[in-house]
Amino acid sequence: MDPYDYQARMTRRPMVKVAELQKEQRLKHVIFADQIDRGLIEHLCGVADMIRTISKTKKGSLYLTDLLPHKRAMMYFTQPSTRTFLSFMAACQILGITCNEVRDRNTSSEVKGESPFDSIRMFSSYFDIIIMRSNEKTFAEGCAYLMNDLESSGQRHVPIVNGGSGSEEHPTQALLDIYTMTRTFQFSDPKDSLKWSRFDDLRKTYPGLTKGLDNKVYAFCGDIGRGRTVRSLCKLLTQYDDPTLIFIAPEIPSLRLSTEMRDSLTAAGAKVIEVSSFEDIVNGKPVIEMIDCLYMTRIQKEHNNPVDAELLQTMDLSRYCLTLELVNRMKQYAPILHPFPRDSNFGEIPPEIDTNPRVMYFRQARNGMWIRAALIAYLFDVDSRILNHFRDYYLNPIIV
Ligand code: CP
Repeated sequence: MDPYDYQARMTRRPMVKVAELQKEQRLKHVIFADQIDRGLIEHLCGVADMIRTISKTKKGSLYLTDLLPHKRAMMYFTQPSTRTFLSFMAACQILGITCNEVRDRNTSSEVKGESPFDSIRMFSSYFDIIIMRSNEKTFAEGCAYLMNDLESSGQRHVPIVNGGSGSEEHPTQALLDIYTMTRTFQFSDPKDSLKWSRFDDLRKTYPGLTKGLDNKVYAFCGDIGRGRTVRSLCKLLTQYDDPTLIFIAPEIPSLRLSTEMRDSLTAAGAKVIEVSSFEDIVNGKPVIEMIDCLYMTRIQKEHNNPVDAELLQTMDLSRYCLTLELVNRMKQYAPILHPFPRDSNFGEIPPEIDTNPRVMYFRQARNGMWIRAALIAYLFDVDSRILNHFRDYYLNPIIV
């Protein structure tokens, strides 16, 4: 029997799998967005806010780097990455964790025939956490089962964190997206005073506007069917009250919302609307004018089969690109997100939009570092130390 054959476990219902990836109400491994509930999102966003505040001073930074200097992380990224790799590495460094990496299988003993699961088991001998990206949908999941099996037999095991699994999942991207939205929809402005707040001003134009992520209209534009970030983020958005999810995608089946995803989002309470352009009318208004938050994505040409490639060549795809004219028709407060990389040849977000106040994608990338630091602190169980430190030194400073 092949000890690395996890196929039967992978076909189980999500809830059964989720239970296996946690221990005593805490996550052991982070593989699926389904593992992350609203309570955990709010906890991690709070810890991330505290880490970013504590980091502002040298004293605070040194406090944080003293939390986990005895831990080592393996970054096993066999698929290209800029943001996820570097922000996880920076997050580890914030907490004092030493990092090592394998980014190219040709530099590891996999070129001699070592299996990727053997590689993972070896990494777990030297490191305390494995953060990984793979083009295989189920590899990170299999690695988590491998660690669980090692734990069951009393052997060394470490947390596995999925930094992107094929076209399937990118749960920590979803976390940083939600963190960015959470901060944006707090509507707090440095210029706010007792007499004036940006939120009160906005309410004069948008009387129904509320703080927070509940009851909002989220639009996703571009490659919906093949994008792992959209898939994971939508799952987290269903944790909020009455989300409306609008999908704007070319009329090519593989790029549109899958039936399985549509059914699961609807079953989770989301209102799902599918259109082909920002100008399509929904509830009497063009989509571009009713959006509370816009999530742009790249057309992922690397996943094209010959039929998709031919269809894409014959289509006018400019309607999946933003223009300044479109942006200026959006609600004043509506943030524009993009997981990045953007495709500079395709131009779904031309750089002239970068200075628009609605743009969040650069902050979004930086937020990834803070929320990933919060997640790692949580996985190593030092999040409560950060909470206590923040309470003692920032909320109720101890006077000596
Ligand atoms: N958003 C994202 O996953 O970016 P990278 O592919 O650069 O990690």
